[in-house]
Amino acid sequence: MHIEVRNLNKSFGDFHAVQDVSFEIEKGHLIGLLGPSGGGKTSILRMLAGLETPSSGDILFHGKRVNDLPPQERGIGFVFQNYALFKHMTVYENIAFGLKVKKQSKEQIRERVSTLVELTGLKGFEHRYVHQLSGGQRQRVAFARALAPEPQLLLLDEPFAAIDAKIRTELRTWLKEMIERVGITSIFVTHDQDEAIEVADEIMIIGKGKLEQKGTPWEIYKNPQTPFVASFIGESTIVEDIKVLKGFDAALNYEGTKALIRPEYIEIGKPGEIRLQSATVNATVKALHFRGSEWMVELLVDNVKLITYRSLEKEVLQPGEQVSVLVHRAYLFNDNDSWIMENSLKVDPMPIHI
Ligand SMILES: Nc1ncnc2c1ncn2[C@@H]1O[C@H](COP(=O)(O)OP(=O)(O)O)[C@@H](O)[C@H]1O
Ligand SMILES: [Mg+2]
Repeated sequence: MHIEVRNLNKSFGDFHAVQDVSFEIEKGHLIGLLGPSGGGKTSILRMLAGLETPSSGDILFHGKRVNDLPPQERGIGFVFQNYALFKHMTVYENIAFGLKVKKQSKEQIRERVSTLVELTGLKGFEHRYVHQLSGGQRQRVAFARALAPEPQLLLLDEPFAAIDAKIRTELRTWLKEMIERVGITSIFVTHDQDEAIEVADEIMIIGKGKLEQKGTPWEIYKNPQTPFVASFIGESTIVEDIKVLKGFDAALNYEGTKALIRPEYIEIGKPGEIRLQSATVNATVKALHFRGSEWMVELLVDNVKLITYRSLEKEVLQPGEQVSVLVHRAYLFNDNDSWIMENSLKVDPMPIHI
């Protein structure tokens, strides 16, 4: 189903929870709605589903305005965080529920449930009750139940938030495959950027009620268009006083410009270890965090904090130690613009002759 939302607003009393949100979703696409808690993601989903009335704006399915259509006539399947399965029913009965409501025949129901049980890998579990299932299995039942009446749009609101980290990763891959196979237009809400990046074809970043940016995960990562997106995606640091960085002086010509520095664009070494000395600044190691496959290093450059990584095979740094830092590249932005800048001093003053 093709979805279009135009200037959607929702206020709760004085509080403007969803502010002028507009977007379109192509048929069959899987969109991730990503943003911090309280940003308005659930409110947007609930308005799409017809569970909440917009304060203003239009919702169009296939180009037809559905604002006044009751939820049961919108052709939507919903999967929530907290399963919301019927505890007194078996897996079979849970999946069959929506079909019974639609008064389908016993034979039709049996066929559809059997297809879904097969699709979701729940064969053999049909007669179990909810308490006899793991968290991951429960969410697969919830998914099958939502798909049973053949909805045209699937809404998933933080479906894996209550599940263990390892299973959650497996479920992501599983969900992506399932949705691709079924080919249903879907919106997947999460506050976890890894989850959104892994699952979604396209991401919409929602911050404080506003749609900040829509694009593929790579586009958003590569080219954040607002300071909110820049600071939300990735583990970057925002440097307000760019004077402390060497090699980015040209940015000082643009008043109010800040720099977003991603960890992978920072090179660190013991004094003298980095070849491009002219482009390095001195920093103090503030803290080190072991991250399993590498060290995360917090640095202070004139009291400005930067974050980077250091691989395990390199000599271990100590908190308080002085290091040299080379920032290779920065995303710069001000109120009007954003652009990428390479370190202008990155020309080796003493090329190595062989
Ligand atoms: N029924 C409601 N009454 C009052 N405030 C609400 C209601 N629903 C949501 N809100 C407020 O709207 C904001 C957005 O909520 P929500 O859409 O649930 O955000 P998210 O799903 O991104 O965490 C929050 O500040 C929340 O407290
Ligand atoms: Mg929510």
